[in-house]
Amino acid sequence: MEKIITVIEGDGIGPEIVKEAIKVMDKIADLYGHEFSYDYKLAGGIAIDELGECLPKSTIESCLSSDSTLLGAVGGYKWDNLDGNSRPEKALLGIRKEMGLYSNIRPCKLYDALASASPLRADIVQKGIDFIIVRELTGGVYFGRHSTDIIDNELVATDVMTYSESEIERITNVAIAIAKKRNNKILVVDKANILDTSRLWRKVCGRILANHKDIEVEYMYVDNCSMQLIARPSTFDVILTENMFGDILSDEASMLTGTIGTIGSASLGDGTRGMYEPIHGSAPDIAGQNIANPLGTISAVSMMLRYSFNMQAEADSIDNAIQKVLNLGYRTGDMMTKGCEKISCSNMGNKVVVNIERKH
Ligand code: IPM
Ligand code: MG
Repeated sequence: MEKIITVIEGDGIGPEIVKEAIKVMDKIADLYGHEFSYDYKLAGGIAIDELGECLPKSTIESCLSSDSTLLGAVGGYKWDNLDGNSRPEKALLGIRKEMGLYSNIRPCKLYDALASASPLRADIVQKGIDFIIVRELTGGVYFGRHSTDIIDNELVATDVMTYSESEIERITNVAIAIAKKRNNKILVVDKANILDTSRLWRKVCGRILANHKDIEVEYMYVDNCSMQLIARPSTFDVILTENMFGDILSDEASMLTGTIGTIGSASLGDGTRGMYEPIHGSAPDIAGQNIANPLGTISAVSMMLRYSFNMQAEADSIDNAIQKVLNLGYRTGDMMTKGCEKISCSNMGNKVVVNIERKH
């Protein structure tokens, strides 16, 4: 197959981790006879510096015409004092909105080899951790009205959280499709004791799920969920939640697996075109040192092959290679534990590449 991929390296460790992910894509192309071509585009802080805006038109045009987008990370100290509308992070929100990527799939799976890197007690971890957060991505407080005004002689800031029935409906259907491929369980996480938006979520989810009697549905407040994720992570399966709760819970969940560095994510809309990125940020404190963990971005590539290109064997080859490299004891600093061998970002990429095997 021939595929065109928009590649946005972004800021901080973005370029380093993306480089490793591209090596992996090239190896897959070689092994399976595909042709991947890459359209490198700027977004984030680097685009502000070089082109005067965080999301240049040529970047979004490429995202909208290519087969999918791979993104490293955006943001950094340098742009931290810009106002909300001109920050690098705005590029990410712009891509999500313009591409209509309303669903964000964030798997949280503990690799056996990383069990000792988890900060949780061994008896909790050994029951296994394997769940998926389905995060709504183009609604809620991220996209509501934002303003800072002077009222009665003081500054007053406002961020509005809005959800429509149709926005809730379509993401619920995504969660249902995922739950059906897993264990037919969905947990809706909200703050329905306080928020109208959450009460609407319960109503709409309940209405749709009433037509899927095979799916067991539960509801949980987000504060309680953040506690239960630590207390009994092995009991979670598919978590369905709104934009900001999903943002926060997915960072928390990632740590259960030992490091945020190994987790990729898929952002999808109605078609097959998606945007794929690691769930971690641009880590400006370690940028340029060749010590970042590229496995999150490599996992994001595997998700791109699986979800957008329907290349299941290819994706399996990548997932197996990651597992093998971890089983062999290779670690970047973020997931280092006693007895393992610490290696660089580029070396980790190379290790994955040499361990990729064609299965079918
Ligand atoms: C994420 C990130 C982004 C978000 C930021 C960088 C805008 O934290 O993808 O989780 O909040 O969605
Ligand atoms: Mg986040």
